[in-house]
Amino acid sequence: MARKLSTLVVFGAILFALLQHVSMAQQTHVVGDTLGWTVPNGGAASYSTWAAGKTFVVGDILVFNFRTGSHSVAEVSKGAFDSCNTSSPISISTIGPTNITLTSVGSHYYLCTFPSHCTLGQKLAINVSGSTSPAPQPSPATPPTTTPVMAPAPSVSIAPAMAPAPASVAQTYIVGDNLGWSVPTSGPNSYQRWANGKSFKVGDTLVFNFVNGTHNVAMVSKASFDSCNTTSPINTISNGPARIRLTNSGEHYYMCTFPRHCSLGQKLAINVTGTDATAPTPSTTSTPSSPTVPSSDSPVNSPPAPSASAPSLVLAALPLTFLSFALVRLLN
Ligand SMILES: *[C@@H]1O[C@H](CO)[C@@H](O)[C@H](O)[C@H]1NC(C)=O
Ligand SMILES: *[C@@H]1O[C@H](CO)[C@@H](O)[C@H](O)[C@H]1NC(C)=O
Ligand SMILES: *[C@@H]1O[C@H](CO)[C@@H](O)[C@H](O)[C@H]1NC(C)=O
Ligand SMILES: *[C@@H]1O[C@H](CO)[C@@H](O)[C@H](O)[C@H]1NC(C)=O
Ligand SMILES: *[C@@H]1O[C@H](CO)[C@@H](O)[C@H](O)[C@H]1NC(C)=O
Ligand SMILES: *[C@@H]1O[C@H](CO)[C@@H](O)[C@H](O)[C@H]1NC(C)=O
Repeated sequence: MARKLSTLVVFGAILFALLQHVSMAQQTHVVGDTLGWTVPNGGAASYSTWAAGKTFVVGDILVFNFRTGSHSVAEVSKGAFDSCNTSSPISISTIGPTNITLTSVGSHYYLCTFPSHCTLGQKLAINVSGSTSPAPQPSPATPPTTTPVMAPAPSVSIAPAMAPAPASVAQTYIVGDNLGWSVPTSGPNSYQRWANGKSFKVGDTLVFNFVNGTHNVAMVSKASFDSCNTTSPINTISNGPARIRLTNSGEHYYMCTFPRHCSLGQKLAINVTGTDATAPTPSTTSTPSSPTVPSSDSPVNSPPAPSASAPSLVLAALPLTFLSFALVRLLN
């Protein structure tokens, strides 16, 4: 019995190490997404809403997009964050955009030190964990500058080995990322470059960020796409931001039908893989499901993983599966 137990502990340690490794896949979080790092119209709720539901892990990168001279990003204490006290930040960067790599677990607080920007809502608080499993939260007294702490090994449990396969999780893509859905200034191939290397699957959601009346999103045929013919789109969405859930595999073509926008490059073609969605949303083979229904897009709470993370997850899954089998045999 004792031998079995110690073997179990060893297995547990190995499992935990592997899970730690899996969770090392680094993610990049663009703070505020298309909003960037600015004084938000919606007040401080804008950035807390953005952070809600996201998981921040040691090694992840925060990208603060701002114009040098218009904003700054400073890490501060909780006290300074709460009172928008900009007099003694822990660290500060005045050059935009700024990338900040999260190096320690616990709460991290950021604000802009420009006069009144913080009180107007340009502030962000996040919790950083050491692994993707629900990590023990450090006590609030933990200073934010602690070096990465190895969490204590959890009691042995088979559950972590059954972690859901991340490959099947539906993803939400912000079309163009910070560019949003607009006439690109960086050339007609901007959206194709954005789509390059991404693999869109049935169930994923595309978010087209635009303001009502300035653009629209029309799904069109390949011929209309190629010639920027705006006369007979398959369907058109005029209200931004538009969320389109991909319900069919195959090629999908989108453009803006505002005069000249398509020929100036506001067009996107993607290939969607996977099995066509069956029942849940009523849809025909030629039209996307009702794109404004928010209920169908909610489950995504993590940003798209960098493509490099997928292979490492697959690699890690093999020994994990093997270990679970070994563990089950040992227990019987
Ligand atoms: C801001 O923080 C500094 C340093 O912690 C402190 O000396 C100062 O009194 C604070 N200012 C306000 C208005 O709380
Ligand atoms: C910041 O991160 C983004 C996204 O990973 C990357 O494209 C960019 O080159 C980085 N910038 C700097 C200055 O490291
Ligand atoms: C971080 O987690 C702690 C404990 O769960 C919670 O009290 C706090 O509100 C969280 N902070 C943020 C910024 O989410
Ligand atoms: C645009 O498409 C419509 C319908 O498919 C077609 O009748 C029309 O000739 C096309 N216009 C051009 C300029 O190709
Ligand atoms: C866009 O229009 C829709 C419907 O007309 C409306 O519900 C939505 O609030 C509008 N959005 C903005 C940002 O004006
Ligand atoms: C989709 O994939 C096919 C086959 O690989 C390719 O010929 C086509 O150009 C792709 N279309 C788009 C829009 O990427």
